[in-house]
Amino acid sequence: MQIAIVGSGSGSNAAAICAHFSEVEAHDVALVLSNKKGAGILEKAQAAGVPSMLIEREHIDDGDYWLRVLDGYEIDLIALAGYIRKVPKAVVAAYSGRMLNTHPALLPKHGGQGMYGINVHRAVLLAQERESGMTIHLVTEEYDEGEVVFQQKIEVQPNWTAEQLQEEIKALEHTHYPRVIEEFCERLSRKRP
Ligand code: GRF
Repeated sequence: MQIAIVGSGSGSNAAAICAHFSEVEAHDVALVLSNKKGAGILEKAQAAGVPSMLIEREHIDDGDYWLRVLDGYEIDLIALAGYIRKVPKAVVAAYSGRMLNTHPALLPKHGGQGMYGINVHRAVLLAQERESGMTIHLVTEEYDEGEVVFQQKIEVQPNWTAEQLQEEIKALEHTHYPRVIEEFCERLSRKRP
């Protein structure tokens, strides 16, 4: 399977995924895409020796453009990792059941529009949740609403700041997201004619 990672941020998950798949023979990270010029995720891709590409502003909502790029790299599976915009509908449709996202909370709680980055963790603390965690789910047209593939919980310690909670959950994502993507690749390969 050829994997594309798409994100807008620092790219710590992308780095973990690239490192994981550098040790896996059957599947490859073939492309990293970002909508943010100078984003950490593009640097992380470069450091990992993975082709990367900036999606220029005029192409951000252009599904046909995305599909041409993804086809060019023969991408089978998309892993969103901190992508803060909606993926164009045509791409969601073309990759239905083949696009994953990681969300840094226990969906269906603390998801949806505006729930990204530190906002999620602030909302969790504000709601005085005793536990939080990560959710990997399939991507649909709505933010954070697709079928849940994997969840991992952690106990929220009373003295944690939103930043500490974010750090703890990122560490959890780095451990589990690459592994879950690999399992998903295996499942998709078995389905292939
Ligand atoms: C992750 O916590 C992910 O759950 C969320 O955005 C964050 C991306 O972080 N969707 P990074 O860019 O991988 O460091």
